[in-house]
Amino acid sequence: MSKSLAIVWYSRTGGSRQLAEAARDAAREAGDVAVRFLKAEETQAEDLLSADGYLFACPENLAAIAGVMKAMFDRTYYEVLGQIEGRPYAAIVCAGSDGENARRQLERICTGWRLKRVADTPIVNVAAQTKEEILAEKVIEERDLESARELGATLAAGLEMGVF
Ligand SMILES: Cc1cc2nc3c(=O)[nH]c(=O)nc-3n(C[C@H](O)[C@H](O)[C@H](O)COP(=O)(O)O)c2cc1C
Repeated sequence: MSKSLAIVWYSRTGGSRQLAEAARDAAREAGDVAVRFLKAEETQAEDLLSADGYLFACPENLAAIAGVMKAMFDRTYYEVLGQIEGRPYAAIVCAGSDGENARRQLERICTGWRLKRVADTPIVNVAAQTKEEILAEKVIEERDLESARELGATLAAGLEMGVF
C-alpha cells in the first residue's frame, strides 16, 4: 500500500496556499504517494493519524503561527500524542517581515509530537508591512515556489523509499 503525505495549510491572502499547492504538485510528481491537501480548519486527528508524513504551511500573524493553524494543533494535539512519533515532517512559514516566532512555535509543537523534521523550515518573506500590503493577495516568487516544491518532492520521495 502506498504511503500518504498530509499537507495541512492555512492562508488568508494566498501566499501559504500557493506554497502548499506547489509542494502538493511536486509531491504528486515525485513519488507513488497519496497526497492529501487539507485545510487546517477542517483537519481532524484522524487525518493526522492516517498519514505517514506531514507538511505544514501557514502565515505568521501577530508574532505567532496564525490562529487557525494553532487551533488545528490545539484540537488534535492530545488526540494524536504518542501515536505519530518518528514520522517525518517539514514546514513552511509565510511572513510579512519576520516569521521567526511562527517557525519556532511550529517546530516546538512538532518536537512535542516527536516528529522528525527532514528539512530546514523556510520563511517566505512577502515584504508586507502596511495595512494595504498585508491585506493584498500575495504572489509568491518563483524561487520560493521552488523551495516549496523541493520540500514536497523530498517528503514524497523519502516516504516512498522508506528512508526517513
Ligand atoms: C493580523 C495579521 C498579523 C500579522 N502579523 C505578522 C507578524 O507578526 N509577522 C510577520 O512577519 N508578518 C505578519 N503578518 C503578515 C503575513 O504573515 C503575510 O501577509 C503573509 O503573506 C500572510 O500569509 P497568507 O498570504 O498565506 O495569508 C500579519 C498579517 C496579518 C493579517
